[in-house]
Amino acid sequence: MVETTQPVSMDEGVLTLSGGGVLVMVDARQGERPRIIYCGPELAGADPEQLKALAAWQYVDGSAGQERALTLSNELSTGTLAPAGLLASRNGEDWAIDLRVESVRSLEGPGVEIHCLDARTEVGANYTLLLDQSAGVLTSRTRITNHGDKELTVDWCAALCLPLDFRLSEIMGFSGRWAGEFQREEIGAFQGSYVRENMAGRTSHECFPGLILKTPDTNEAHGLACGFHLAWSGNHRLRVDRLPDGRCALQMGELLWPGEIRLAVGESYGTPDLLATWSNQGVGAVSRAFHAHLSGEVLDTRTASKPRPVHFNTWEAVYFFHDQSTIIDLAKLAASVGAERFVLDDGWFGARRNDKAGLGDWWVSPDVYPRGLHPIVNKVRELGMEFGLWFEPEMVNPDSDLYRAHPDWVLDAPGVDTIAFRNQLTLNLSKPEVADYLYEKIAALVDEYKIDYIKWDMNRDCHHPGGGAQTGGRAVMHLQTLAVYRLIDRLRDAFPNLEIESCSSGGGRADYGILRRTDRIWTSDNNDARDRQQIQKGASYFFPLRVLGSHVGPKKCHITGRRFSMQFRVASAIFGHMGLELNLAHESETDRAVLAEGIALYKKHRALLHTGAFHRVPSAPHANVVGVVSPSRAEAMFSYALLESRPRTAPDRLFFAGLDEARQYRVRIVWPGVDPSINQPSIVQSCDLMRKGTVFSGAALMQFGMQTPPLHPDSALIYHLEEA
Ligand code: GLA
Repeated sequence: MVETTQPVSMDEGVLTLSGGGVLVMVDARQGERPRIIYCGPELAGADPEQLKALAAWQYVDGSAGQERALTLSNELSTGTLAPAGLLASRNGEDWAIDLRVESVRSLEGPGVEIHCLDARTEVGANYTLLLDQSAGVLTSRTRITNHGDKELTVDWCAALCLPLDFRLSEIMGFSGRWAGEFQREEIGAFQGSYVRENMAGRTSHECFPGLILKTPDTNEAHGLACGFHLAWSGNHRLRVDRLPDGRCALQMGELLWPGEIRLAVGESYGTPDLLATWSNQGVGAVSRAFHAHLSGEVLDTRTASKPRPVHFNTWEAVYFFHDQSTIIDLAKLAASVGAERFVLDDGWFGARRNDKAGLGDWWVSPDVYPRGLHPIVNKVRELGMEFGLWFEPEMVNPDSDLYRAHPDWVLDAPGVDTIAFRNQLTLNLSKPEVADYLYEKIAALVDEYKIDYIKWDMNRDCHHPGGGAQTGGRAVMHLQTLAVYRLIDRLRDAFPNLEIESCSSGGGRADYGILRRTDRIWTSDNNDARDRQQIQKGASYFFPLRVLGSHVGPKKCHITGRRFSMQFRVASAIFGHMGLELNLAHESETDRAVLAEGIALYKKHRALLHTGAFHRVPSAPHANVVGVVSPSRAEAMFSYALLESRPRTAPDRLFFAGLDEARQYRVRIVWPGVDPSINQPSIVQSCDLMRKGTVFSGAALMQFGMQTPPLHPDSALIYHLEEA
C-alpha cells in the first residue's frame, strides 16, 4: 500500500493521488512543466524521488542532448517525441506554447487542479485530476484559456497526455457497425501509432471511445492492464504512440473541425473527461472499476435504488403501423407476461407513418390517435405498467411542418450537397430558439401524459455541422454536443423522476457523457440472441449490466433472419436490463408461458445481476461465459451459452470466477426450466442440478471446473450459486 494516508497530498511540488488501488504522481513544481511521474496500480511505499531516479534519462548517440519529458499536454515547445497534445496558434503565430505551473489547488472529489501559464504566448491551461477513491478511476480534463489580446485557434487539445508502461504492448480496441456494436479488435505489439478517429457527430457504432491495454501475459484475472474512456458523445480521437526511445503515451480528446474552436480574448475551451484506470489483476478488474465508477459517480441517483423494470417496446412488434386497439392489445399481453414499463416507439406523432416524414412535429398524430394517447396511457397504468415514449429530438424530416416553417434551423455546409441519411437532417441545437422549441414540445407531452420514460433516439451521422450565417458558417459540433446535454439536463431538472434511454440506431451513442444524464443505453438494434451474446460481452468492458438494454426479440430475428428458441432468447436478455420487443400475439401460448417464467426469474435475481461484480470467464470461441458475484460473495449467477457446435466429443468444463475459494456453494441450474441435456444421464441428473443442486467448494468450482451437459448450439444455461 502507498504510505500516503491522504487521498491527495502535495509535497515539495509533487502531487499524489491515491485510492481504489490506483496511484498517480505528478511533478507540479512552480515554474516547471507539469509531468506525470507515475500513473498505474498502487505501488507500496512509492517515493517520487526514487521513481524519478529509476527512470533516469539516458543520453544516447544520435539523439537530443537533453531530456524531452512528456508533459500533461506534450506541447510543441517541449520538442516532444510524442505527438503534441495541444495544437493552437494565433493565425500561425504563438504555436510554441510552453506551459509552466503557476499554482496548484486541491479539489473536493478528491482531486487537484493544476493551473499553468505560458507568459510569452499568454495561453493558460487548467488541468483537473480527480480520483474516485472507491473505484480507482482517474477523471481528467483540460481547459485552455486565451489570456492574450488576439484570437487563439485551438486545433487539438487532448483531455490529458498519459505516459504508459511500455510493457502494455497489446491493445484492445472497439469497432463495430449498426446492429454489430462493440466488436473487439486485438492489436499485438507495434512500433508507431494506433489512431482511431470518429467524425460521425455522435459516439458512433464504428469507433467506441474506449481502449484497453495489457501485456501479452495478462488475462481476465491476472496481470497488468489499464482502460481508458472518453466521456463524450461527439467526435473524438484516440491514440497510443509507441515512441522510438521506448516510451509509450496515450491521448484522447475531441476531434475538432477546422476553425471550430477560436477563442476570443478571455475565452476558454474545455475538453471532455478522460477516464482511466489500472490494475495488476487483469482486464476483468479494469472493467469492474469502470462499472463501479459509472454506478457510483456518473449515473444519476434517481435510479440507484429502483429495480430496473422489464420493458415492453413496440418497435419490432408494429413498426410504424400504429393503431389504438392493436397497441392496447399489446399492452395487455405485455402485462400478462410480466412487463413493467410499456414504451411506445416511433410512429405516434405528426405525419410519421414511415421514416420519410414527421420528425420535428412533436404532437400526437390526430389521424392515428384522435383521442390523443390518453386511452393508451390510462390502460397501461391500469395494467400496472409505467409509460414510456420515443423521441428523436435532434432530427427533422424535410417533409415536416417544422422544416417548412424553419428551413434555416438545420446544420449544413453552405453550397455543399447534404449526405442522405434516413431521410432526415440534424437540427442546430446551438441556436437557443431550436433548443427552446424542443424543450417546450417535449416538456408539454411529459407533463400532459406524466411520461415516466423517454427513449431518446438519434439516427444519423452529422457530416456537415455548419452553424449557418449566425456563426459565419463555422462548424458547431462541439456546441451541438453540449446543447444536447443541456436540453436533456433541462428536462431532467424539470421532471426529477423522468428516466431516459440513450439510443442511436442501437448503441451509436453509448458513453459516460450521455450516461451522466440518461439511465440506460439501447445496446443494439440487433435482437439476434446469438449476436447479442457477443455484443453485450463487448459492451461489458465498460458498461455494467444495469444500463445495457437487452430485449427478447421475435422467434425469427428481423435483422439476421435466424430463429432461436424462447429459452435462448430469454437467457440472452436476462444478463442486462431486460425487456421485450416482439409481437406477443404472434408467439405461441407455450412460448409466452416460457417468457413469463423467464421474466419472473429476472425479477427474482435482478438485484444480484445489477449490483454484483461482473466476470467474463475465458472460454473457447464456441461458448460465452459471464457471471455476477454478489458483493458478499455469498451468491452468484453465471451464464454458459453454447454458440456453435462443440469441437470435441465431450462438452466444456465451466470454470466459475470471483467466488470465495474457502466457501461452499450450492449450485443449481435455474434456466431453462426443463433439463436441456440432449443425452442423458448427464451431470444435470447426477448432481440434481434442476432441483436441489449439489454443494461444491469455491476453489473446486473455480480451479477444477464443472462439467456442462451436452447441449444443442444456440442454447444457454443459467447457474445460480448460493453459499451452503
Ligand atoms: C432506431 C432505433 C430503433 C427504433 C427506430 C425507430 O433505429 O434504434 O430501436 O426506435 O429507430 O425509428
